[in-house]
Amino acid sequence: METGELKERIAAFPRWHYRFEFDGGVSTPMPDPGMVNRHEQRRRYFFAALLRLMGGSLQGRRVLDLGCNAGFWSLEAVEAQADFVLGLDARQDYIEQASLVFEAKGIDPRGYRFEVGDLFEHPIEESFDIVLCLGLLNVVAKPVELFELMAGVGAETIVIDTGLSRVPSAFFELSRLLEPRNAVGSDIVLIPTRDAVVELAGRFGYNTVALALNITDYTSMDDYRDDRRLAFICSKGGSVSTLAAEPPMPPNAWLAAAARTARRVRRSR
Ligand SMILES: C[S@@+](CC[C@H](N)C(=O)[O-])C[C@H]1O[C@@H](n2cnc3c(N)ncnc32)[C@H](O)[C@@H]1O
Repeated sequence: METGELKERIAAFPRWHYRFEFDGGVSTPMPDPGMVNRHEQRRRYFFAALLRLMGGSLQGRRVLDLGCNAGFWSLEAVEAQADFVLGLDARQDYIEQASLVFEAKGIDPRGYRFEVGDLFEHPIEESFDIVLCLGLLNVVAKPVELFELMAGVGAETIVIDTGLSRVPSAFFELSRLLEPRNAVGSDIVLIPTRDAVVELAGRFGYNTVALALNITDYTSMDDYRDDRRLAFICSKGGSVSTLAAEPPMPPNAWLAAAARTARRVRRSR
């Protein structure tokens, strides 16, 4: 694709959530430079852990990227040599962005597909080795159905990155989405506790580790403070025990944390 055409097609979108860099010095605009740090930090936090678990590459693996947005993590998977990636998102404009990114990067079209659809209604008939469930569990109201889907496609490994409720025990907190662009249908969501993620994954046969945070710069990463957000790797085998786990919050710390969250929610209204 010519540089001029690529610039025009990038500029046709009102907003990009990720920085993508292309040949010829072209990149997607990021009005908030903190977001570049956010995705770099997320990459070194959970994507690097996934690669370590998989022996350094995704070669031989088929990856399903649920809520793929502009295809940032799908691209990571392809660049980590995944055999095939299916990216699914409910929003047409995000899928158009993802398709543009992959076209402009010259990714072999036999190695990926993007589809528009609500994952709770969209049929997925193929099987996958790895499911990426990033920024998704805390923006939906159907956590059990989401796990049914992920286990149903045959995933051996699931990577979950999610906002958390900090109430002790396995629990889902009823909440409202603060970012309406993420709402598909209803803006009511069920936010899991750390124990709820581990227990629910266990019901579907997965061993799970809440990954130890290794954030080096918290710019645009505030939601990862105080265990308000963590990433998890769930695996059908025992291999996740080799990954470093985030220590659990001290008992009763959740009360102070819940009060801070309530204040934040009140301020945002
Ligand atoms: C917070 S963004 C996360 C994007 C990306 N996975 C990441 O972690 O950087 C959530 C994405 O999930 C998509 N999404 C939310 N509910 C969905 C649903 N029911 N079906 C398909 N996509 C959905 C949204 O459109 C949005 O792109």
